[in-house]
Amino acid sequence: MLTIGVDIGGTKVAAGVVDEHGEIVEHTLRPTAADRPDVVAETVADVVRELSAGKEIEAVGVGAAGFVDETRSMVRFAPNLAWREEPLQKKISGLVGLPVVIENDANAMAWGESRFGAGRDQSHVVCVALGTGIGGGLVFDGVLYRGRWGMGGEMGHMQVLPGGRPCGCGNVGCWEQYVSGQALVKNAREIAEDRPERARILLGLADGKIEGEEVTEAARLGDDASLAAFASFADWLGQGLADLAAVLDPGCFIVGGGVSRAADLFIDRAREAFAQRLTGKGHRPLADIRLAELGASAAVVGAADLARQR
Ligand code: BGC
Ligand code: NA
Ligand code: ZN
Repeated sequence: MLTIGVDIGGTKVAAGVVDEHGEIVEHTLRPTAADRPDVVAETVADVVRELSAGKEIEAVGVGAAGFVDETRSMVRFAPNLAWREEPLQKKISGLVGLPVVIENDANAMAWGESRFGAGRDQSHVVCVALGTGIGGGLVFDGVLYRGRWGMGGEMGHMQVLPGGRPCGCGNVGCWEQYVSGQALVKNAREIAEDRPERARILLGLADGKIEGEEVTEAARLGDDASLAAFASFADWLGQGLADLAAVLDPGCFIVGGGVSRAADLFIDRAREAFAQRLTGKGHRPLADIRLAELGASAAVVGAADLARQR
């Protein structure tokens, strides 16, 4: 039986028809109107209609970048999007006439990776999705951990630095302000402003406004500021994973999300920082730190599978 998985990101809606082995049989992509919740529901309905033409679809799973309630129907809050108490499940199911399950996007990704991707041989998986923010997903013994009210695993909002950078959630010093696409850009801009001579390559590429792609490109060309931005990112990542290990003791971390495409620029250093900062080091096994295998479709596959298991 087929289900549809939808991943609502900040810039695009990705969707796919997925079979019971986690294989995508058809796929589509649309731009997202991130600041228009009503339009987002319409877009999801559109892609579902398009994908279900001529097929028998059992249910739809939707990954959304926010705090989804315990009934998996409402996005109560989204730090980086306009959703507030958004009845997404009701809106979408009303439009498509199929059973709909809403899930946090990183939970959907973690589920996809632990069933069909980098965590399929692992019993205790902690997934860290590095995109605009940090998404988190915990899968233990084949069960997705949601917490009492559905909002568990929001590790990006651990407040790691008192008085630190303001976060989209309203607090300051959240982990995702130091390890994410936004964080990388902030790191690089700070250094370039302070010490422009360290950022010659980056400033040459950026043409006025530094964005993520340029930081990655400049780092690959040896730009000092960009390399420093990645180094700081890697250290904060390793430290955060060590803290998560102190609480959760997983066998494996899976690092995914858009920024993980540049993993060659930070993953080794992050592994070192992790090993160095792990509490009880030398007296416990080191969890694996793996890269996600399903790439950009992990949340689509995961959401579709969660809809099947609803
Ligand atoms: C949000 C999460 C989301 C993550 C990745 C974070 O800022 O709090 O709900 O999973 O970004 O999109
Ligand atoms: Na999550
Ligand atoms: Zn925050």
